[in-house]
Amino acid sequence: PPEREAAKARARALLKQHDAVLVAHYYVDGDLQDLALETGGCVSDSLEMARFGREHPARTLVVAGVRFMGETAKILSPEKRVLMPDLDATCSLDLGCPADDFAAFCDAHPDRKVVVYANTSAAVKARADWMVTSSCALAIARHLHEQGQKILWAPDRHLGRYIQEETGADMLLWNGECIVHDEFKGLELELMRREHPEAMVLVHPESPRRVVELADVVGSTSQLIKAVVEGTASTYIVATDNGILHRMRQLAPGKTLLEAPTAGTSATCKSCAHCPWMAMNALQGVASCLETGDGEVFVPEPVRGQALGCIERMLDFVR
Ligand code: 13P
Ligand code: SF4
Repeated sequence: PPEREAAKARARALLKQHDAVLVAHYYVDGDLQDLALETGGCVSDSLEMARFGREHPARTLVVAGVRFMGETAKILSPEKRVLMPDLDATCSLDLGCPADDFAAFCDAHPDRKVVVYANTSAAVKARADWMVTSSCALAIARHLHEQGQKILWAPDRHLGRYIQEETGADMLLWNGECIVHDEFKGLELELMRREHPEAMVLVHPESPRRVVELADVVGSTSQLIKAVVEGTASTYIVATDNGILHRMRQLAPGKTLLEAPTAGTSATCKSCAHCPWMAMNALQGVASCLETGDGEVFVPEPVRGQALGCIERMLDFVR
């Protein structure tokens, strides 16, 4: 539609005018993903968003995703201006892990290395030894386990349990979950798989155990996209936020992509797996944060400096 093209053109011009680059997650609206790629930005998973933002020379980063992604960008690049289309875009994992409660949990277990998922506030990261994302969580937990370290893990219990089972590490888990992935249903997925025996099942590890157990590939968003692009199957059942289908369709146009069933899947709602906070990102928001300067992310000291260490440790590890 012409309005959409006009909104895109306006956002494109403002990015240029403000020496800004758009860093988007695979779950945000397809127009934003396209705009990021068309203007020299990136569309990627949490790990690559952090790396891209840190390394890009632009003076302003516009982060289309959720709050922790903007905070990570600011922690890594305090000299840059970091804007978000909507600062209220949060995450149930972040909300479910308040910094004070988390600090008390850490205080009660001083013998454990504190490993937190990227989906946490800067204040929680400030208490952590390591930050991980879904694409490097297994490797880092395995590394700590091999060193004989015991782990305190927060906040996603499904991802924590998956890592624990895969690595054999001694892990104490916080009890949080992603409201999107927690809704995927094992029994319904099994029935769908029977209907499509040729399909490969791709699952993000924030999903419940019964769903992960049915997977052919378990991985981060970028790992699931790679599985579709490189896979030999013609059909894929995808258990993650359905925003990812946009990029999968672009990169693997001939393949059939089916959304894995959630608790809400029904005849009237076939696309229930979509994060309400990721959905707050829109073309209009990109333009207006650049125009007004609203939506700037601040991470005050000393929290920023304290949170930096666990992120840099991860980036050094994956280098
Ligand atoms: P990744 O893109 O790092 O796999 O993370 C998914 C996620 O939870 C973003 O909200
Ligand atoms: Fe958080 Fe889940 Fe939304 Fe990702 S999809 S931002 S983990 S609530």
